[in-house]
Amino acid sequence: MRVIITLFIVSFFVACMEAPQVNMQQVAHGQELYETHCVNCHQQDGKGIARIVPPLLNADYIVQNRNLLPQIIRNGMHQQIVVNGVMYQQKMPGNSQLTDAELTALVNFVEFRFAKSTQLLSADSVKLLLRK
Ligand code: HEC
Repeated sequence: MRVIITLFIVSFFVACMEAPQVNMQQVAHGQELYETHCVNCHQQDGKGIARIVPPLLNADYIVQNRNLLPQIIRNGMHQQIVVNGVMYQQKMPGNSQLTDAELTALVNFVEFRFAKSTQLLSADSVKLLLRK
């Protein structure tokens, strides 16, 4: 039992060290970008527009496709997807004008605000994901 508790404590600290800390300044920058580039469609509360624009708030699609977020934002998407049990098939335009740093801020804002995640992506991992 002791060993298990020790292992648990050690893995907890390792997990804390590995996850980049939430950088509130970056999240605030992401929010500004969200308000400029995303809010018209996905809405302030992230709930989207009924059957036309999928929600970001508590979206299972985001949890299942975390690594695709930078590409979705940069290139847009146009395919049939199911988000929280509802099917969507509209076009989301790309945002090729956004820099890698802006993309990182946006991804981390979406993760933090709508997916309630505290395991945010570093700028380097966003660059790697974009290359795939
Ligand atoms: C013109 C409206 C529009 C704008 C602007 C827009 N989106 Fe989308 N977004 C959509 C639509 C429509 C889909 C579904 C596309 C499909 O069915 O292939 C989508 C899908 C998504 C998805 C995957 C599905 C989900 O709901 O989890 C994410 C993540 C996303 N958008 C994030 C963003 C972010 C971040 C921005 C701002 C940079 C943005 N979108 C701007 C319309 C938009």
